[in-house]
Amino acid sequence: MSMLNFSVEFLLILLTLALFLSIKLIKWKRKQLKLPPGRQGWPFVGETFGYLKPHPATSVGHFMEKHLSRYGKIYRSNLFGEPTIVSADAGLNRFILQNEGKLFECSYPSSIGGILGKWSMLVLVGDMHREMRIISLNFMSSVRLRSHLLPEVERHSLLVLRSWIHGSPFSALEEAKRFTFNLMAKNIMSMEPYEAKTEKLRLEYITFMKGVISAPLNFPGTPYWKALKSRSNILDVIEQKMQERMQEMREQERDEEVDDLLSWVLKHSKLSKEQILDLLLSLLFASHETSSVALALAIFFLESCPKAVKKLQEEHKEIERKKLQRAETSLNWEDYKEMEFTQCVINETLRLGNVVRFVHRKVLQDVEYKGYKIPCGWKILPVFATVHLDPSLYDDPHQFNPWRWQKNGVTSATTNNFMPYGGGPRLCAGSELAKLELAVFLHHLVLSYRWELAEPDQPLAFPFVEFPRGLPIKVYPNI
Ligand code: HEM
Repeated sequence: MSMLNFSVEFLLILLTLALFLSIKLIKWKRKQLKLPPGRQGWPFVGETFGYLKPHPATSVGHFMEKHLSRYGKIYRSNLFGEPTIVSADAGLNRFILQNEGKLFECSYPSSIGGILGKWSMLVLVGDMHREMRIISLNFMSSVRLRSHLLPEVERHSLLVLRSWIHGSPFSALEEAKRFTFNLMAKNIMSMEPYEAKTEKLRLEYITFMKGVISAPLNFPGTPYWKALKSRSNILDVIEQKMQERMQEMREQERDEEVDDLLSWVLKHSKLSKEQILDLLLSLLFASHETSSVALALAIFFLESCPKAVKKLQEEHKEIERKKLQRAETSLNWEDYKEMEFTQCVINETLRLGNVVRFVHRKVLQDVEYKGYKIPCGWKILPVFATVHLDPSLYDDPHQFNPWRWQKNGVTSATTNNFMPYGGGPRLCAGSELAKLELAVFLHHLVLSYRWELAEPDQPLAFPFVEFPRGLPIKVYPNI
């Protein structure tokens, strides 16, 4: 009996010792962990100017190239006034996005919050973010995409395309912006395209956007200051729409229900007036700036790839033929699902053009990754553009090659590392709408027109992607 007691006690002592030693070992290993290599740069501004220096959107830029070759895919820096880890590592980027709210959290510079509003989806975290996200996902659900948004997208595409004059130059980027803005203004607040109020709002919005991408210097005359004024003018218009709608709902003036986001939030959510205003504004922002640039990029890349235009035309002529056989004038969901090569063109446009090049996150607790310490409280930037242009993941990454996305050629490396819409709990809420917008616009574009650049232009990353000359093109009928 006493022999048994002795061996149990001995075992317990051994276990406690082992536990103690392993805790010590873990702590010692943590202490041994090093920060990723890198440098702090200048006081206060750190390396921000170098990081943000404009460069061709289809490249990673000089700053990134230099840092990657010196430090590798994970490095430390000082950006936007904070100590920051920059990640060009596909695995770490996925890990960051999937651990949103646990190890990392969305954290945009406060100037973005100042302009988009404190209730903007881009800024919110936690329960309030989830609530806003559910509303946005409802608005762009697959049922609504089929029943409402597909016909709307087609109508707005045709409105823009039919206004083009053969042979005279115009800005393709401006037209793409008109298309995406009008589409969203209609579906968010039932504002009709080309009406004076919608046009006024659109022009106000252009000033607003210039401020979002400018330095946050808030004194009279700066783009940021002008944008804050535009924000308040835009909010006045949205608020007026909201008051009118509430009155109509009270008096039940309309025979049929208005099917837009404004009506939906007024009826089904408990959001305050301020929250609704910021939600509508942030949806206009998230949808308009991204899809329009993606469309302009597709027009740009296709212009220099006649083989891809030919393949697109074949695909869309076949869809058009089937539509005529059914004696229908509009596209249906089955037509859309047949746009397979078009989806390859869209993927390739987003991979090479990188509309959203990186996102902003904060580290919530110390994390160990590939032997590096990623310290709590630091900023961390997952950079998608560098992964999308990585020659170890994509053959000939600077080449526009939509065929790489065809079913027979696509590998898991191609898809797993492709994150144009972000990922995890903050994956772009409008990704399916964006694909629909691009595919339907391209359908009517390639069926109606041939196009060429009227002047040389190229996409630059500021880091928001822009065409300095607005992508001037000329179109001719496609006979
Ligand atoms: C090609 C077009 C588009 C691209 C490349 C794109 C890309 C992205 C990315 C990368 C994010 C993640 C931001 C982050 O994690 O911090 C995002 C978020 C978001 N996008 Fe898009 N987007 C596009 C079109 C759209 C459209 C058409 C809408 C429609 C309203 C939209 C609505 C949103 C919203 C609401 C969020 C915030 C999601 C959340 O925080 O839960 N996007 N988008």
